[in-house]
Amino acid sequence: MSLNKNIINKFINVTSLAAIATYKYIGKKNKIAADKAAVDVMRSEINKLNIAAKIVIGEGELDDAPMLYTGEKLGTGNGPSLDIAVDPVEGTNFVANNLPGGLSVIAVSEENNLFNAPETYMEKIATSNNIPKDAIDLDFSVEKNIKNLSDATGKKINNLTVCLLDRPRHKDIIQKLNKLGVKIKFITDGDVSGALLVTSKKYDVDIFIGVGGGPEGVLAAAALDAFNCNFQGRFLFKSEKDILVAKKMGIKDLNKKYDIKEIIKGESLFCATGITDGDLVKGVLLHQNKFFTETLVTHKNNSINIVKSEIANT
Ligand code: FBP
Repeated sequence: MSLNKNIINKFINVTSLAAIATYKYIGKKNKIAADKAAVDVMRSEINKLNIAAKIVIGEGELDDAPMLYTGEKLGTGNGPSLDIAVDPVEGTNFVANNLPGGLSVIAVSEENNLFNAPETYMEKIATSNNIPKDAIDLDFSVEKNIKNLSDATGKKINNLTVCLLDRPRHKDIIQKLNKLGVKIKFITDGDVSGALLVTSKKYDVDIFIGVGGGPEGVLAAAALDAFNCNFQGRFLFKSEKDILVAKKMGIKDLNKKYDIKEIIKGESLFCATGITDGDLVKGVLLHQNKFFTETLVTHKNNSINIVKSEIANT
């Protein structure tokens, strides 16, 4: 097992410190500064670890992102070879405006087990582990997916809840859902959290659908895999440049539908530390010169926990 307790604790510390680094920017209307603070800390903390890490999803291509760029090698090199996907601030608007749901996120797998996703949109569907895998599909109509979801859950269609990013591009889906009488939980940002709302009955979300960031899709899939939930994703390419980048990354079939097992394989770790309070975890709290953080930690096949950390304000 590459991801032992010591390494897991180190990664919890990485996302906690990255979340803490954004604390002074919460509600300051400056999402770039908040993101930069988290990126800098995340990069320098990963670099201290005794691992040989490759960033498979980072802040972009080297030309656009000097720190945590996709392909960057980090760590001391003395330790397991790992693939890492990062989103130092997921929900930059939430942090800039002091709204619920800001997170600092990392997913880790053994080498070559985490999908190298381009910076483009992705069509996504996530459902809980109680739903048969073949009941829901990106190729089915909204109506068919909802009917199958109703059959699988035993809930009437008007008692089902769909989580969806509130975007004009979802107009058609929203119209269809309204016609069916399904409840919609609209989220304004943060579709990693949105997708993870299918993991527990307490969130009362039966399915997550819609188009959001591709990297966020991979990060959500890493956690959903540990919960044994279902996830499908398909990239959407808007420009020739996007297509070129995808081809350079080795994507041959641009319309391919990816199943969760093609996105994340084997042992994996997902850490999401709250920056602002959210559905999954509480945000960073500063009290008597100590920071308190909460991190959702999933370790595939081993454990799922909310870990509380206490870190001195130095
Ligand atoms: P940032 O944290 O990078 O701002 O992303 C927030 C987010 O809402 C993601 O969760 C989501 O996948 C993506 O933006 C959706 O993109 P868009 O705002 O272009 O619809």
